[in-house]
Amino acid sequence: MLSYKHGYHAGNEADVLKHICLIQAYISLKRHHKSITYVDTHSGSGIYKFASDYMSKNKEYNRGITKLENYKFENQSINYYLKVLRNINKCKKLLFYPGSPLIMSHLADNLDQILCYELHNNEFKLLRKNLSKNLNAKIFNKDGFEFVNKVNEKKKTLVLIDPSYEIKDDFDKVLNTLRTLNAKFENLTAIIWYPVLNIENNDLFIENIRKIGSNRITRIELPVKKYDEEVGMKGSGIILFDGSPYLIKLMKECVKELYHLLKDEYCNIKPKIQKI
Ligand SMILES: C[S@@+](CC[C@H](N)C(=O)[O-])C[C@H]1O[C@@H](n2cnc3c(N)ncnc32)[C@H](O)[C@@H]1O
Repeated sequence: MLSYKHGYHAGNEADVLKHICLIQAYISLKRHHKSITYVDTHSGSGIYKFASDYMSKNKEYNRGITKLENYKFENQSINYYLKVLRNINKCKKLLFYPGSPLIMSHLADNLDQILCYELHNNEFKLLRKNLSKNLNAKIFNKDGFEFVNKVNEKKKTLVLIDPSYEIKDDFDKVLNTLRTLNAKFENLTAIIWYPVLNIENNDLFIENIRKIGSNRITRIELPVKKYDEEVGMKGSGIILFDGSPYLIKLMKECVKELYHLLKDEYCNIKPKIQKI
């Protein structure tokens, strides 16, 4: 049974990294492609109110979006992300944090298509309600990893794979999905989010990805805490399956800035952006 609720984590440092990368990937693809199919394999419910019980419990947003809200510097990816969140909220002060389906539905135009998968029944119902005005989105109460069987190779496709990793074999499913993407799909860009929980497991996960032997894979990792024996997330990363040097350059500049804004004072590891 699925028990993960993204409401407890919405707007944290991981959401910030993931959503900035997603927005920039979409913009960079739109420079060359009129129409994009966006697939959200693990969608969540789409809207997370700051005043809700879920978000108020641990206030994880204080580690993420709150630290950025008054950002006054020049990084274009951060500024654009803040503009998108404010536009969706229709207000400078954010009342809710929008999830990936809402962000993408806001950015997409009439030529794009949006396909969202959410397996948890309640989250699915909420998402359907929260996207009811967004006519460009289709929502499925199904396993998002099945998307690989449905990709139309003729259409430029952007995929966000964002499991909760509450089921341990999510790491293996991600690896298998990456192997399939590498073997079969040339016309596809994927963003795969992962948590950094401990060094050994993380190194093993990255090494297994490296063994796939693709020249289209970049590791983008943002540590925010000291790597030690303690349980919990030390940071998070994105496996970017895309060859665009432009997008990688943008993410390099952005992660450097995010590292200074979001890491805590004990963090002893530098961020990483490297082809693997
Ligand atoms: C990390 S949350 C998604 C957050 C969302 N992508 C965002 O950025 O706003 C992961 C979601 O995946 C759902 N989920 C878990 N396993 C799934 C599966 N196999 N297929 C589709 N959804 C799944 C969970 O119920 C949860 O809502």
